[in-house]
Amino acid sequence: MAVHPPAGLVLPGYERPSGVHPPLDFPDYRSTALRAPHRPLVLLPHRLTEITGPLLGAGRVTPADADLTNQHGGEPQGQRIIVAGRVLDSGGRPVPDTLVEIWQPNAAGRYRHRVDNHPAPLDPNFTGVGRCLTDSDGRYRFITIRPGSYPWQNHPNAWRPMHIHFSVFGAGLLTRLVTQMYFPGDPLQAFDPILQSVPDERGRMRLVAAFDWETTIPEQALGYKFDIVLRGRDATPMEK
Ligand SMILES: [Fe+2]
Repeated sequence: MAVHPPAGLVLPGYERPSGVHPPLDFPDYRSTALRAPHRPLVLLPHRLTEITGPLLGAGRVTPADADLTNQHGGEPQGQRIIVAGRVLDSGGRPVPDTLVEIWQPNAAGRYRHRVDNHPAPLDPNFTGVGRCLTDSDGRYRFITIRPGSYPWQNHPNAWRPMHIHFSVFGAGLLTRLVTQMYFPGDPLQAFDPILQSVPDERGRMRLVAAFDWETTIPEQALGYKFDIVLRGRDATPMEK
C-alpha cells in the first residue's frame, strides 16, 4: 500500500509480511467496503501524545481487571474459562508491560452495547470487558466466560463463531493492534467471512486458541492458550 509522508519527513517503516493480515477491503465481509480507504494513506507526524501513551501509571491496572467473572454482585451465567498466553516479538522474545484488553459477548452471545439488540438475554453479572499488563515474561491471563455465538447482518443466516476481541498497545496510542481469538473445533469458523478474510490457512490457525491442560484449573475452569506474535513470519493476523 502506498504511504506518502509529508515532504521532507523521513519515517521509518516496517515491512508488512504479505499474506498474513486480511486485506482492507474483503467483499464477503460487507462493512469493510465502508471503512477501507480509497485514497493513499497520509502519515501524520508523531507528536508527544502519540509517542508517550498510554501512560498508565502504577496501580492503574489492577489484577481484578483481568477477572471478568468478578465485576458485579454475583457470578455470570455460562462456563468459566481461563484465557492465557504470551505477547511475543518477531524473534520470539517476550514483550513485557504491555496493555492487553479484551471484550466479548456473554454466554448467550449478547454484547452489553447499545447497538446489540438481538433477542438474547443480557447478564447483569457480566460486562464483557477486561484488561491486564503482561508480566516480565510477556504473559497475560484472563478469567472469563465462554462467549456465545451471535447472529449478524452480514449475509442471510450469518452467525459469528465464538470469539474474544483482543487489543494490544505498544509504546504509543498509535501502536495499537487488534485481533480476535477463536475457539478450537467451532464449526462456524469455516463460514465466517472475518476469519476467512485472513488469506493463509496457517494465519487463520494462529487465531484459534489451543485447549490447554496446564492452564485448566481442576474443578473450576477450562484453560485456553493464545499467544500473540506482533510481527514477523509467525505474526498473529491483525485487523485494521
Ligand atoms: Fe464480536
